Parts: sequence; structure tokens; C-alpha cells
Amino acid sequence: MVKGFRFDWNPWSLHKHSHIYVKFAVSLLLMGLAFRLFVSRSGSFSPVAENPYIEKVASVETPASNTTFQTEKQESKTGNYTGQCDLFVGDWVPDPMGPAYTNESCPVVEDHQNCMKNGRPDNGYLYWRWKPRDCELPQFDSRKFLGAMRNKHWAFVGDSISRNHVQSLLCMLAQDTEVTEVYHDKEYKSKRWHFPVYNFTLSVVWSPFLIKASIFEDINGVSTSEIQLNLDMLDSKWARQYSNFDYMIISGGKWFLKTAIYHEKGKVIGCHYCPGRNLTELGFDTAYRKAIQLVFDFIATSNHKAFVLFRTSTPDHFENGEWFSGGTCKRMVPFKEGDVSLSDVDNILRDIELEEFEKAKTSVSERGVDIRLLDTTRLSLLRPDGHPGPYRQFHPFSENKNAKVQNDCLHWCLPGPIDNWNDLVMELVMKDG
Ligand SMILES: *[C@@H]1O[C@H](CO)[C@@H](O)[C@H](O)[C@H]1NC(C)=O
Ligand SMILES: *[C@@H]1O[C@H](CO)[C@@H](O)[C@H](O)[C@H]1NC(C)=O
Ligand SMILES: *[C@@H]1O[C@H](CO)[C@@H](O)[C@H](O)[C@H]1NC(C)=O
Ligand SMILES: *[C@@H]1O[C@H](CO)[C@@H](O)[C@H](O)[C@H]1NC(C)=O
Ligand SMILES: *[C@@H]1O[C@H](CO)[C@@H](O)[C@H](O)[C@H]1NC(C)=O
Repeated sequence: MVKGFRFDWNPWSLHKHSHIYVKFAVSLLLMGLAFRLFVSRSGSFSPVAENPYIEKVASVETPASNTTFQTEKQESKTGNYTGQCDLFVGDWVPDPMGPAYTNESCPVVEDHQNCMKNGRPDNGYLYWRWKPRDCELPQFDSRKFLGAMRNKHWAFVGDSISRNHVQSLLCMLAQDTEVTEVYHDKEYKSKRWHFPVYNFTLSVVWSPFLIKASIFEDINGVSTSEIQLNLDMLDSKWARQYSNFDYMIISGGKWFLKTAIYHEKGKVIGCHYCPGRNLTELGFDTAYRKAIQLVFDFIATSNHKAFVLFRTSTPDHFENGEWFSGGTCKRMVPFKEGDVSLSDVDNILRDIELEEFEKAKTSVSERGVDIRLLDTTRLSLLRPDGHPGPYRQFHPFSENKNAKVQNDCLHWCLPGPIDNWNDLVMELVMKDG
């Protein structure tokens, strides 16, 4: 089946001015890194995954010697749940049940997230579930979900983490009913599936910036020019389909860390991380904030009323190096709260997400759109054990047990912790919906 694995990356896409990077290293916020993983496989499934990595790892603090939980008034910033349970504050607890599917029972897992098939030796990471502190979170029930989704169209919009998530959902649903892939784009980044028994349609739309972007990376992630971003225009790829979606999970994040030239009203207004160009550094946070505002404005003013989940961005777990300098993620159990904190970059992304969501929530809701936050950041931060690591490749150590292998500590193994996001999704859309 596996024809071969190719790995290409170009952390420094602007080699012309490489000496300038030293000066710019001051600011990890300015990093624009791109590396793309390309896996080719015979048959119809030939995915491409982009890895928008950042420079800094979540800083891992020494676990407290007292292993009792350090609850520390870890207040959720996500809303005011007076008398209600905050689904996003809780713990990972042992779950003897294990995953709903395996590499054998789900045929649509991308090779580089198929940790079982790729020979990951430990499986403890499969036996945990997310338990909100103040309530029970029912497990995802695919029959119930499908029953509620009869004749509906559900879309995931975002980057490769959204694709990771859609595969998780697809695997869980496919255990109970047949599913047919009905569309894929040229690069297998956007796809659509149909569940004939329920007439349920599931889409994933690849739109890593959510706004209009010209990306000059070839299929191997080799960039020939800076990304051109229009801060005042949505990516029509998802926006023009929006009126077909009954449900949408939309998210953004790490791609904004890349080098990009920013446009507004058809003019260049600045850039992010473009040494050697006579342009104003505007900061990725400016661009990200504008992008999210544009998304919410669009949703609020559209005549179409979808049920929207806005997912916060996901942290990575590289330790002892970065993604491009030998960073790994070898942990085999979840962190406990207080053991780890978000990296600076992840904090910036998350703060923008929460602030803009809060601002938009009222006006969007007033227009009759149900919009909820799917705040997966913190609970994901507690799962350093859930990434493929070296097992993004097929049996990476079969020939040489000391082989130097690129690790993936950003995406999630399937099955893996990302499956539990579906418990939350189901609760958000089914309960008091
Ligand atoms: C750990 O902390 C808890 C609460 O602060 C305390 O009740 C317990 O005795 C501590 N255990 C140890 C072994 O220090
Ligand atoms: C939460 O809601 C209560 C009552 O509606 C209010 O008094 C309180 O100030 C709110 N807290 C926050 C942090 O918004
Ligand atoms: C699934 O993973 C197991 C190892 O956990 C492996 O032996 C088996 O060949 C894999 N099956 C498929 C279809 O990839
Ligand atoms: C299937 O669902 C779509 C909406 O997703 C709807 O337009 C269509 O009429 C449905 N087909 C049947 C046979 O109900
Ligand atoms: C840089 O841009 C400014 C303002 O647009 C201009 O005045 C200046 O001459 C430019 N410098 C160079 C070296 O092109």
C-alpha cells in the first residue's frame, strides 16, 4: 500500500537575507515557518498535510511533587456559566472503554496520523476521556448524532487540524453506517462525504487563513514567494458555500505566523516578518484579529442562519527542540492541570479568539445565529501524549532504531484525544440547542 514517504520542508523560505534572521530572532512572534509533509499512497486517498509550526514549544514546567490536583482557581475565560457546567474546565480521566474505532475499522485515517498502523508501541494514550469538572460529559453517540443530522450538511472550515478533526468524526460515524466520499479537490485538502442512510453531508473546506490568501507553496511545501493576504476579504472557498451549511466548525490560527504581505483595499499595507522589504511590520496578531472579525461580521450579516462552533486553536507539544530542530513528544500520559502552560504564541492566538468571540457573540446571536465556542485549547494542552511524534511515518525505526525522524507533535493520532472533541461537539449542539 505505502509507496513511499517523502518529507520536505523549508523553514527558511527567504534565504536571500538569512543574516537578518539573527536580528529578528528576538521575536519569536515574527516567525514565518513553513513545512509541508507529503505522503503519497496508492489508491484514492492521497492526502497532503501542511504543518504550520511555530518556533516555540509550550513551556513545560516541572510537575509539582504533590500530585494532587492543582486546581488553583483555574477559571475559564470562556464565559459566564453561572450555575452551569463549563465543559472546557476539567480533567482527563482513565477510560477503560478505549477508542470507538481502530486502524482496522476506520479506513479514512491519513497515513501520517495512523499511529497504530505506523507502529506506535504504546497504547495508553487511547484510554482517557475528558471529564468536565462540574458535570458528566456523555460520550459521543453516533446513532443519536446521525439521527439528529438527517438531511443536514455539516462543514469543517480551517487548516490541517480541522482535517484531523473531520477524520475523527468520520471514523466514529462510519462505525454505524455506510459513507461515500463524493468530492475531493485536486490536492485532497477539501473533501465531502455523504451518508446515504441519513442523507447527511459532511464537508471539510481547506482554508487555513479563512480570509483571501494567495499561497505560493507547491505540493511539497516549497515556497516560491511570500503569502499574500487580503485582510478585508474572506476566502470565497468557504464563504460562497456557507449558505449550504447547517452546521459549521470554523477555526484558524497557526498559519498566521508565517511570512506574509498584507493587503487592504487592494493596496499593500504592511507585512508580517518580511526583512529586506521596505514594509511596516504589522504583526500576525493584527491580521488574525481582522480575519476573525471579518468571519464574525459575515456570519452576523448573512441571511443564512447556521449553527456555528468557533474552535480555538490547538497547542503543540515539541520538547527539547522545535519541530525543525529535533523536538520530540515522548510523553505517554496526560499532564495534569498546573503541569504545563500555554506558549506565548498560543496565548496570543487564544486571547484574540476569546476577545473577538465575546465581542461578536451578542450581535451574532441577535441575528438568530446559534454560535458557540468550542474551546479545545486547554484540554488539548494537557495531552502531550496524543501526537504521532515519529510515528507519522510507517515504522520509522524498523531499519535503524536510532534513525533520526521528523516528529509531529501538533496533529493528533487517530484514534486519539481529538476523538473526545466530538463528545464536546455533540454536547454543544444537542444540549439546550
Ligand atoms: C497535597 O496537597 C493537598 C491539598 O493542597 C493536601 O491535602 C495533601 O496533603 C498534599 N499531599 C502531599 C503528599 O503533600
Ligand atoms: C456572571 O453573571 C452574573 C449574573 O448574571 C454576574 O453578576 C457576573 O458579574 C458575571 N460574571 C462575569 C465574569 O461576567
Ligand atoms: C493496524 O495496526 C496493527 C498494529 O497495532 C497492525 O498490526 C495492523 O497491520 C494494522 N492494520 C492496518 C489495516 O493498518
Ligand atoms: C438531502 O439533504 C439535502 C440537504 O443537505 C436536501 O437538499 C435534499 O433534499 C435531501 N434529500 C432528500 C431525498 O431528502
Ligand atoms: C521605504 O518606504 C518609505 C515610505 O514608503 C520611503 O519614503 C523610502 O524611500 C523607502 N526606502 C527605500 C530604501 O526604498
